[in-house]
Amino acid sequence: QKKETVSVHFTDSEGNQYSANAKVGDNLLDVIIENDIEIDGFGACEGTLACSTCHLIFKQADYDKLPETPTDEELDMLDLAYGLTDTSRLGCQVIVTKDMEGLQVSVPAGVSDARGPS
Ligand code: FES
Repeated sequence: QKKETVSVHFTDSEGNQYSANAKVGDNLLDVIIENDIEIDGFGACEGTLACSTCHLIFKQADYDKLPETPTDEELDMLDLAYGLTDTSRLGCQVIVTKDMEGLQVSVPAGVSDARGPS
């Protein structure tokens, strides 16, 4: 069966724009990996909710439309993220839906890996 995709756009702290084909049902960390988008240190724990390097900032309207609210585990990890905002989520916990066509998210400056310096 054919997988549906939507386009999602990431903006990094230097203003670079990356556009990605996001498969519905994947999470936003998968999308970044599958599209070979190079963001330093992003997704260090490979989506196991053990870091906060997949921190993404949504626009308020988009954030409000996200189908799932963050779990306590995600919120605990987000607390450790650098530059936390009210519309922050961890990319590995956000599942792509059909409604995300054209979504724009920011990748905040400064990655802090909750696992500490390696
Ligand atoms: Fe580590 Fe998302 S990749 S919490």
